[in-house]
Amino acid sequence: MAQIDPDFKDKLSVTAKHEEFGYSIWGEFAPPAKLGIHGDNVAVDFDICVGDGACVDVCPEEVYEWVEYDGHAASAKKAAPARQEDCIECMACEDDCPVVAIKIYALE
Ligand code: F3S
Repeated sequence: MAQIDPDFKDKLSVTAKHEEFGYSIWGEFAPPAKLGIHGDNVAVDFDICVGDGACVDVCPEEVYEWVEYDGHAASAKKAAPARQEDCIECMACEDDCPVVAIKIYALE
């Protein structure tokens, strides 16, 4: 099963910015089929995310916000790192995501 590639920043480029939240979107972004990886220090591979919601529930800083991409093969609901700048790097979401769609990077 595919998991988020921890080296994706070396392999993909930023192809878009999320209109509402302002974070980077990496790789091919052609909704609803291809959604790419969303975020910078909190990165969620939207093509892997199945909308489980563990990340939304476990985050103590309420970093995530649900967004909808009707028609995506894995799920219509995705957890967007809307407030990634609030991340305290507790790693709870990365650890709990059942499909390993999340990668947390330390803020410099
Ligand atoms: Fe998606 Fe994993 Fe969160 S499946 S909703 S990134 S726990």
